[in-house]
Amino acid sequence: MVSLKGTLQVPGDKSISHRALIFAALSRGVCKVYGLSPAFDCISSADCLRQLGLKFERRSPSGNGLRETVFLVTSPGLDGLHRSDAPLFAGNSGTTIRLLSGLVAGHPFKTVFDGDDSLRTRPMARVLRHLSEMGAKVTYQERENYAPFEIEGNLLKGKDFDLDVASAQVQTAILLAGLQADGKTRVKLPAAVRDHTARMFKHINVPFEQPSENEIVVTRLEEPIEPFTVNVPADISSAAFFMVAAACLPGSEILLNNVVVNPGRDLVISVLQEMGADIEVTNQRERSGELIADILVRGDRTLGSVSIDGTRLAAGIDEIPIIAIAAAMSHGTLTLKDAAELRVKESDRLSAIVGNLRACGVTVTESDDGFVIEGKGGIKGGAEWKSYDDHRMAMSGVVAGLLAEQIVRVDNESCIAVSYPDFISDLRRMTVV
Ligand code: S3P
Repeated sequence: MVSLKGTLQVPGDKSISHRALIFAALSRGVCKVYGLSPAFDCISSADCLRQLGLKFERRSPSGNGLRETVFLVTSPGLDGLHRSDAPLFAGNSGTTIRLLSGLVAGHPFKTVFDGDDSLRTRPMARVLRHLSEMGAKVTYQERENYAPFEIEGNLLKGKDFDLDVASAQVQTAILLAGLQADGKTRVKLPAAVRDHTARMFKHINVPFEQPSENEIVVTRLEEPIEPFTVNVPADISSAAFFMVAAACLPGSEILLNNVVVNPGRDLVISVLQEMGADIEVTNQRERSGELIADILVRGDRTLGSVSIDGTRLAAGIDEIPIIAIAAAMSHGTLTLKDAAELRVKESDRLSAIVGNLRACGVTVTESDDGFVIEGKGGIKGGAEWKSYDDHRMAMSGVVAGLLAEQIVRVDNESCIAVSYPDFISDLRRMTVV
């Protein structure tokens, strides 16, 4: 049987990379971003920002290679952003389309947003209705609630929002509009989410208040912030695939370096630990306002049961597909509840997981807002794995294939580039036969 061995730093965190690029628009001058994610999603953010007036230059290491690649982002300042005649095409990226909607809402010009077939099926009203309430004019071009849509920005009015969805994207979009609005804008979330926005605001000196744990207040940014430098840590959502593979393959021992362990993102670590996996979080420290650590995983334990519900789902919202693979390999039960939000991600991930695991011989029961997986210590395989063009479903299928008794053929591996273009080659490099 194969195992995973060695040390790896997965690429830069996607959520933090989007924010570093987009928040550069709040400054005037040249920001520096080290360790930027190579994900196609982040390229979508950069492409859209370029259409609004920002410039990007990549400087690669020279000489002895000790220097990391840096992206120089030149921003004209919020009041220097200009109209794009062509639609902003966000590709597959929900973060791009939602955050940039908040950014342009304060500008008195029209912007059309569009995305790929998957993004066109994802709900946008959760952001756009709030931007309308602040004074932006939103017109859906085909179907209410979905891209393509047009935003005509305006002088916005600050407002109080008590969100009914625990979404960092919605929160951040409203805050970006609030930084351009008259008066105060207050966003309260129903539960904790990843707090990359607050951490980066603090790091780059965007003024804000935090009256309570899940609440942020901003007012108009009267002056551009000073150009900033951000060091992006390794993406825990990408590292998660290696954590699960190593935890499930006896004889494995891997070290994942410089991984972001933001408390709003670290569910995969605690869930694997609760299942009994041998995972150590070491060398915890701070980088650009984010908590990072090195993660050591050994594949020397049998995994057991765990449950995940709405009280902690947000911290692992993107990792459920790969956690499901660990559950299938366990000798226990994974009970997932309150997870209807997974139906509106890059694919309907609840039914995608259930369908694929069943095809691979795993016992799964689906409910409206979750599933129960009964692990029998292995995955039979011998089936085609449907990715639904969803990068995290495709990567989960690749890991399922590594663990299964028979071949698992993933129908589309090219969509993996949406978050992790070199995933397959990195996995191959770590795999010992
Ligand atoms: C993200 C927030 C999450 C997550 C997405 C990235 C972000 O979405 O699923 O991949 O960068 O803010 P929601 O905020 O919609 O839960």
